[in-house]
Amino acid sequence: MPSPFVSKLNSAQNVYTFRDFILVPGRSEVEPGSIDVASKLTKNIGLKVPLISSPMDTVTEWRLALEMARLGGAGAIHRNMPVERQLEQAKRVKQSRSEAVSVDDKGRPLVGASVSPMDRDRCVALDRVVDFLVADVAHFHNSKVIEAARRVIPDLSADFVAGNVGTRAAAFDIMDELPRVDGFRAGIGSGSICITSEVTRVGAPTLFAVAEVASAVQERKASVPVIADGGIRGPGDAALAFAAGASTVMLGSLLAGTDESPGELLVRGGKKYKTHRGMASAAARKVRFAIDRYSVPAKGLDEGVESLVPWAGKAAGVIGTMENGLRAAFGYAGAASVTEMWEKASFGLVTQVGSAELGAHSLEAKK
Ligand code: XMP
Repeated sequence: MPSPFVSKLNSAQNVYTFRDFILVPGRSEVEPGSIDVASKLTKNIGLKVPLISSPMDTVTEWRLALEMARLGGAGAIHRNMPVERQLEQAKRVKQSRSEAVSVDDKGRPLVGASVSPMDRDRCVALDRVVDFLVADVAHFHNSKVIEAARRVIPDLSADFVAGNVGTRAAAFDIMDELPRVDGFRAGIGSGSICITSEVTRVGAPTLFAVAEVASAVQERKASVPVIADGGIRGPGDAALAFAAGASTVMLGSLLAGTDESPGELLVRGGKKYKTHRGMASAAARKVRFAIDRYSVPAKGLDEGVESLVPWAGKAAGVIGTMENGLRAAFGYAGAASVTEMWEKASFGLVTQVGSAELGAHSLEAKK
């Protein structure tokens, strides 16, 4: 009989994520142009383009949120600012006369905001303006956080997205204990600027987290959409996330380099960059105003880094590339929609040795 500790090691789960998999091609009945990538962001909000910009202070303020709504996606305004400013930012999107594809029932651009459920005043204030509130907590599966959400949700009318979560157990507890949950934000430790898994050796990589949470939702027949959050480097990762049960995909670093993100353009060695940082990096924690996801005093720990990302031009370009790539991936997988990706797409496991064959290889530099 192996000792319980040895059994613990031997019964370890496979915590797979993006680079471990590829999608196996399937019979296709549709051409990429007629594939519909529309999906649900929350129970009550649909998007033509299933992409949402991350509530990070180097990614989403009013300008990118508005542009995302204009393009058919959505943006969630970060909370690394006083509530008055976050409200102003949300109102600016709502009051814009831009023609948006994602709109509320009055035809105004759709917008969301991130909150901590522990910050009741912020939740209630933003609820009057935004269409959806995204919890912005590193580990939502925490009794205090769930209790705070349980108390505030009855006073909210906007859709409420719980996150971040990474396991079936978390999804079950949240569905059982909250009066309502309109979406899940899944993924812990996979973000490009994130060092949580490195520092703490704890994490629920995004693809694994999505599959876990989406399975729990399906078991409960709860129809709660799952947002895949963290580590998406392009349309292929997003396609894998959809195949694993995601309804939408959240983008941080991919949008941090765009013209519409906050922050100045920098030039280094003749190349253009913008800054990007984790919301739990030392610099972002320094400007944190409210009770928040990472700077709980007991946890005096940096869990994110600061960096530069290459300038990426207009957000429309990034979103266009993502959309085209998604349509191509859906087509190869034989799926005409996100729900068909859930049903039809099948995964192939890639070994570390074999992965070298999947990119460009065996080439000589072009002179
Ligand atoms: P990408 O890879 O799109 O990921 O840049 C964005 C997501 O990363 C999460 N995030 C963090 N995670 N420490 C973390 O552990 C941090 O400092 C941090 N900041 C952001 C968040 O879920 C975001 O959407």
